[in-house]
Amino acid sequence: MAKTINNHKLEKIYIPPMAGVTDLVFRRLIRRVLGSYSQFVRLSTEMISSKGILYQTNPSRMRLSDDEKEKVIIQLFGHEPDTMATAAKIAENAGAAGIDINMGCPVPKIVNGKDGAALMKEPCLAEEIVREVKKAVKIPVSVKTRLGWNEQNKNILDFALKLQDAGISSLTLHGRTRSQSYTGVADWDYIAKVNNILDIPIFANGDITSAEKAQIALERTSCHGVAIARACIGNPWMILQTVKHLLGETYQEISPREKLETALIHVELAYEDKGEKGIQALKRHFSKYVSGLDGAAYWRQALATADNYLAMTNILKQALQTLT
Ligand SMILES: Cc1cc2nc3c(=O)[nH]c(=O)nc-3n(C[C@H](O)[C@H](O)[C@H](O)COP(=O)(O)O)c2cc1C
Repeated sequence: MAKTINNHKLEKIYIPPMAGVTDLVFRRLIRRVLGSYSQFVRLSTEMISSKGILYQTNPSRMRLSDDEKEKVIIQLFGHEPDTMATAAKIAENAGAAGIDINMGCPVPKIVNGKDGAALMKEPCLAEEIVREVKKAVKIPVSVKTRLGWNEQNKNILDFALKLQDAGISSLTLHGRTRSQSYTGVADWDYIAKVNNILDIPIFANGDITSAEKAQIALERTSCHGVAIARACIGNPWMILQTVKHLLGETYQEISPREKLETALIHVELAYEDKGEKGIQALKRHFSKYVSGLDGAAYWRQALATADNYLAMTNILKQALQTLT
């Protein structure tokens, strides 16, 4: 379920970066749900601006708790090789287990600044960034990217080979182009093609929504591992189920009570970490936490309008009472 490459452990299941989701609080929650199965899951920060690291504009994004040191990947975005290299060094000193370079983000704000998926249009620059970052750090350097800029420019085969030559240790590949953003279906067969020509481990990514689908993606692509993003928002158990499924162990569906109790823990952890500001960040998780409850639409709506710690915990406790 995990292999060691050049003395570095590489798990099979990866929760890749998600801005506004994979923060310290969510990672803490995931580890709590996974318990001893955490050893099989690779975690990452949200993407962090390399310039921001140099100018310390958002230091909280890079914060790792003591027990996360040398276990969590820090993802950087940027397109200036020097800036990326300096930021990577700072991230290494902060305790990153590896540096992941974002070459896949489709958002206009990012690609218009030549970052994220825009680097697929500049393979030589992308390669130079990897080489400079690699020179700056001792920890593994990986890339997360897509199939290409658009259908006409699906250059992942050449692009990935270039990155491999530059020395990346692994690749996370979302099976869509930049112009698809999140539309259509992730092309696992194309991921398989890339995996066929590369020697480094690949994490297949896109549309893995269940433990069974994770296994199918692994079989279809023959990749080393899978990266599961949206499916674990408000559903951390999906990752536990996937680990158990791949280990050949049985697992149960999660009861509404367990979901609500976990939601309460999530609120506590967020409040403990960032006070009321932390509560706002939870909203995208909560519609999933109440799914399966009688009157789910009512509770979903109530949680969507709750804008502080007390309101949110009260709603969750009321929902719990309906179960007794
Ligand atoms: C809310 C959100 C934020 C994301 N932020 C990042 C990010 O910071 N860096 C990155 O490389 N990908 C980011 N992604 C993309 C995901 O890591 C992943 O590639 C994509 O969602 C496809 O996988 P999925 O079908 O399992 O969700 C983000 C996706 C979502 C939904």
